[in-house]
Amino acid sequence: MTLILETERLTLRHLNLDDAPFIVKLLNDPDFLHFIGDRGVRNLEDAEHYLQNGPMASYRQHGFGLFMTQLRHCGTAIGICGLLRRLTLPDVDVGFALLPAFRGQGYASEAAAATVCWGRRELGLQRIIAITSPDNLGSARVLEKIGLRFAGLTRLDGESVDTCLFVPDLDTS
Ligand SMILES: CC(C)(COP(=O)(O)OP(=O)(O)OC[C@H]1O[C@@H](n2cnc3c(N)ncnc32)[C@H](O)[C@@H]1OP(=O)(O)O)[C@@H](O)C(=O)NCCC(=O)NCCS
Repeated sequence: MTLILETERLTLRHLNLDDAPFIVKLLNDPDFLHFIGDRGVRNLEDAEHYLQNGPMASYRQHGFGLFMTQLRHCGTAIGICGLLRRLTLPDVDVGFALLPAFRGQGYASEAAAATVCWGRRELGLQRIIAITSPDNLGSARVLEKIGLRFAGLTRLDGESVDTCLFVPDLDTS
């Protein structure tokens, strides 16, 4: 198990193929489908494929990716949080998703804040941004809480709808 970081209440580690059952559950949550999108993951085989070609490929290629987010005291898997390098964005962005049962308790903010600090400290990434769909008010609030601000709408390559762009609060570019 590759541990990435610990916060007061959470542990973030590399995802691996044993996490496939959790990924099936998370990626089929209605809010994940609505706010992030349909990754076409319906069964364990799909999830293993997703893990291999998504997060695990990103660890190899970039040294970061989406990480498993667990409760520190008991190891319960609650969601994913991490950094993404997308072809459609100029900077690395922070992303997160939790199972419904674990929302509203500050876990997303705690995980995302620690992830951004880790990216700055361990990877030297000075400008970490974020994107959300315009109706994702909960995600926008998390991003504001961790020191990003809404910088406007943008249309990513290949997309048919606008996306909200968030940048570091002190960033004027
Ligand atoms: C977005 C998500 C990760 C937030 O998780 P969370 O555990 O509720 O986040 P936190 O508890 O850290 O903070 C949520 C904040 O947003 C606020 N919030 C939540 N839903 C809201 C809404 N619909 N409108 C306005 N604010 C909202 C909460 O009140 C809280 O702010 P506060 O601490 O000032 O009260 C979670 O809802 C989720 O997994 N959604 C599905 C996946 C997703 O959308 N991911 C983000 C993609 S960009």
